[in-house]
Amino acid sequence: MAQLAAQIISQDEEFQRQAGRLLRSGPTPMSLVDERPGRDGAAPDLVIVDLRGDALSMMPSIERLRAASPGAGIFAVALAADSDLILQAMRAGANEFFTWPPAAEAFHGAIRRTATRREAATGARPAATTLVFFGAKGGAGTTTMAVNCGVEIARLSKRSTVIVDLKPALGEVALFLGVRQRYSILDAIDNLHRLDREFLRELLVKHKSGLEILAGSDHFDRPGAADGGAIEELFRLLARQYEYILVDAGSQVNSCAVAALYAADTIFLVANPDVPSVRNAQRLLDRVRQLGACGERVRVLLNRAAEPYPIPPKQIEGAIGHPIHHTFPSDYKTVSAALNSGVPLALSGSTDIAVQFDHFTRGVLDPEGVGTSSPAPKRNRLGLERLASIW
Ligand SMILES: Nc1ncnc2c1ncn2[C@@H]1O[C@H](COP(=O)(O)OP(=O)(O)OP(=O)(O)O)[C@@H](O)[C@H]1O
Ligand SMILES: [Mg+2]
Repeated sequence: MAQLAAQIISQDEEFQRQAGRLLRSGPTPMSLVDERPGRDGAAPDLVIVDLRGDALSMMPSIERLRAASPGAGIFAVALAADSDLILQAMRAGANEFFTWPPAAEAFHGAIRRTATRREAATGARPAATTLVFFGAKGGAGTTTMAVNCGVEIARLSKRSTVIVDLKPALGEVALFLGVRQRYSILDAIDNLHRLDREFLRELLVKHKSGLEILAGSDHFDRPGAADGGAIEELFRLLARQYEYILVDAGSQVNSCAVAALYAADTIFLVANPDVPSVRNAQRLLDRVRQLGACGERVRVLLNRAAEPYPIPPKQIEGAIGHPIHHTFPSDYKTVSAALNSGVPLALSGSTDIAVQFDHFTRGVLDPEGVGTSSPAPKRNRLGLERLASIW
């Protein structure tokens, strides 16, 4: 699904905070841009306009937004469903009207309609799919999963695919793929203003599978807490140029990992069948829900699952309250041989883990029914897109 760039037009910081949280709590990946035009000159896909104060003074802003971004979703938010105000907002160019606070279901329905319209508008270029791999604990196999999935996606789909190593201090993505990096993610986030296709090509290293790699930093403290906003913008820029974006987000919930979770279409939580993994997976799932990066985007991967299980999978599912999406067996010899030779696991022979990787990646490339259920926008008598989601 497309990642949408949203803007909130309001003087009220509390409203900005709550609206931001609401925007990010739904199934559509969302990044927030501030009111200044994006550094890359991009217009937002969705704008929330706060009409709770002097509503009439905001109408010229809606008109300007509509003129600047004919395809954007403009959501007007007011204190009451006043019919004159609704009409004025519609005439100025709003697509949707909500009273504050809106019911989550109707609000996210409107976001889905906006995403569907934006996808149709991008025409031939399919929307980017962002897959974030996050470890329930260090050493769970997050990099192994991300790297092998990236190689397989690039190889099978022949689509533009990039993997981003978010881990500070010696991320291992480039190492696992046997490529030597000249530049790292820091060169990208420190030069966002010039991160066009040409410059990006300079920074990336290409694996023989076709997978492009934005290697990890070799600084111990970067990317760090202050880099979350830049990482968020980086994902927005990559989404314009790649069809698949994979992220090795490590296992720490910091501002950079949170930016990745917000951008994710799917969050793969990598766990092992042991007590620390289960305890941390529980906590992480709670945290993801608190962040508003909707829990329904999370898929649990159980790695190094060998009989006899220290904790049986059914018991793990019960404890974390989430189904296990895919199980990978423990096979250190095959995994380390594949990593050392730079050959993807799925090509490393007919081992069970190779078969599991092949199944898993094919499932990622062909997720049955995902994104096909959004209804077409209805039209009202004024010929404008469905506006009155009022209650
Ligand atoms: N299914 C598996 N069977 C056996 N060994 C595995 C399996 N998956 C990963 N490993 C091994 O476990 C070790 C840790 O894997 P990896 O580096 O992918 O974990 P990680 O979660 O990224 O670790 P870190 O927290 O250090 O980033 C590696 O030596 C890897 O070869
Ligand atoms: Mg790792």
